[in-house]
Amino acid sequence: MGRVSGKVALVTGAARGQGRSHAIELAKEGARIVATDVGAGMLAGVEYPVATSAELQETARLVRDLGGEILIAEADIRDPAAIQAVVDAGLAEFGYIDVVVANAGVFTWGAAPEMSWDDWFTVIDINLNGTWNTVRAVLPSMIARGQGGSIMMTASQIATRGQSNCVAYGASKAGIVGMMRALAAELAPHNIRVNTIHPSTVYSPMILNEPVYKVFRPDLENPGVPEMEAELRPFHMLDVAALDPIDVSHAVVYLASDESRYVTSLKLALDAGSTQKLG
Ligand SMILES: NC(=O)c1ccc[n+]([C@@H]2O[C@H](COP(=O)([O-])OP(=O)(O)OC[C@H]3O[C@@H](n4cnc5c(N)ncnc54)[C@H](O)[C@@H]3O)[C@@H](O)[C@H]2O)c1
Repeated sequence: MGRVSGKVALVTGAARGQGRSHAIELAKEGARIVATDVGAGMLAGVEYPVATSAELQETARLVRDLGGEILIAEADIRDPAAIQAVVDAGLAEFGYIDVVVANAGVFTWGAAPEMSWDDWFTVIDINLNGTWNTVRAVLPSMIARGQGGSIMMTASQIATRGQSNCVAYGASKAGIVGMMRALAAELAPHNIRVNTIHPSTVYSPMILNEPVYKVFRPDLENPGVPEMEAELRPFHMLDVAALDPIDVSHAVVYLASDESRYVTSLKLALDAGSTQKLG
């Protein structure tokens, strides 16, 4: 018996990074997985590549190699009909979805006065509206089943502390917290728990790319991981520059499982103490 045996989990952004890790760890603990990602390679307004179709297929292979069951389907979470189609395919395949890991998102940055209008709308549309589209697509069937559920939304430490040059990203992630609180209150009578996850920095393709190294060291010609890590380490209380996806997945498995049956409306920080660090 795994810790989440019998559960069916929808994971967005599952092609790579944290989402892939969540899909694998949930499958290891017995959940069946509905995995989705955008399969686009590049998105307008995002400076680093998003996931490809091949990466989503690789997630499926990794889960199946563990003996897990997984359905994959692509969708841009900005498109309500597309994410609804993924959910409907998952319901047709597995009968229900009782865990949602709304993890897909993009990181954007830039000085506020220089941001284009489109820069703002892109990140709000993906991170905030896309998270809503994901949850909205699952809710009717989750409520109608009457067996409760667990919804997790990936926010960020930047939802709870001020970070320069991150106004749209910070607003999108803080908006997720507001959504979580309202849903946690509204869905509690259905025994559906709703929580947010707040990682600090995580080693994933979102940060392991040259444009992001430049964010940390704009003064250098060719900064790399060591230069970025030197900037990140002092943010944390514990002696670490960034977390690994598995560090977040452990929390995801906990929140998906009945071990957390009375945990709702929680902002769970996975941040080596960074959010609470003064100076
Ligand atoms: N990496 C970090 O340092 C960090 C820190 C805090 C929070 N987060 C958050 O964690 C979550 C997972 O990010 P990650 O670190 O694994 O990075 P990642 O870039 O590897 O994963 C994000 C996934 O979301 C997908 N995605 C992006 N736009 C999409 C869209 N419109 N429709 C569907 N899928 C889309 C991408 O293709 C990608 O697979 C994100 O919400 C991110 O904001 C990341």
